[in-house]
Amino acid sequence: MSDTVPIEHPTWLTSGDFTAADEPLQLFAAWLRDATGSEPRDPTAMTLATVDKDGLPNARMVLLKGVDEHGFVFYTNMDSQKGHELDERPKAALVFHWKSLNRQVRVRGNVERVTDAEADAYFATRPKQAQIGAWASKQSAPLESRLAFEKAIAIYAAKYAIGTVPRPPNWSGFRIIPLIMEFWHDRPFRLHDRIEFRRELPGGRWSKTRLYP
Ligand SMILES: Cc1cc2nc3c(=O)[nH]c(=O)nc-3n(C[C@H](O)[C@H](O)[C@H](O)COP(=O)(O)O)c2cc1C
Repeated sequence: MSDTVPIEHPTWLTSGDFTAADEPLQLFAAWLRDATGSEPRDPTAMTLATVDKDGLPNARMVLLKGVDEHGFVFYTNMDSQKGHELDERPKAALVFHWKSLNRQVRVRGNVERVTDAEADAYFATRPKQAQIGAWASKQSAPLESRLAFEKAIAIYAAKYAIGTVPRPPNWSGFRIIPLIMEFWHDRPFRLHDRIEFRRELPGGRWSKTRLYP
């Protein structure tokens, strides 16, 4: 994961008070590095919340595959529920919870698709079985049986037995461009620390507010 976190780890954060931070994406990168060292698995797992066309919220886990000053990237099938929901309403919320650190980060913002070049580059790093799976899975569509899925996997495995597997046209990534980020850290007696950062526009100046726990 470290190669997808191009933000330098500010060393003062490890000994200092996180509430002194002024740049939330740098603070996030520092916390993610801490979590990468302490979580038993999947430190990049995050809850992704969307809203369907009737306004009903929806949430599921996805894996963060890149974060930088532009935002938070994950990959998925664009014909899935989340794909349709984000195309229709390109806004989302993320939640990270690292139990080993008693820390939570919340992110809210606008959503855009990553470029084809970004999606191609990430797809090329996936294991071949996962690439075949991306072709075989009509994610979130009804599946009549496990056998039907295994047949589809066998068909694509035969089709792409030789050479590289191209990226399916409906498989790509979304970037959440943060406008609000909140950092929560457990303190004794539930007197937790919460710091919220907000900005009006992507690339704009962040303001910081301490919140009651
Ligand atoms: C830890 C974890 C990580 C996951 N990562 C992804 C992911 O990166 N991309 C993805 O499409 N689904 C991922 N899933 C599966 C999703 O949670 C979800 O079941 C699937 O994407 C269909 O969601 P949808 O019907 O809302 O589109 C993950 C599930 C878990 C439990």
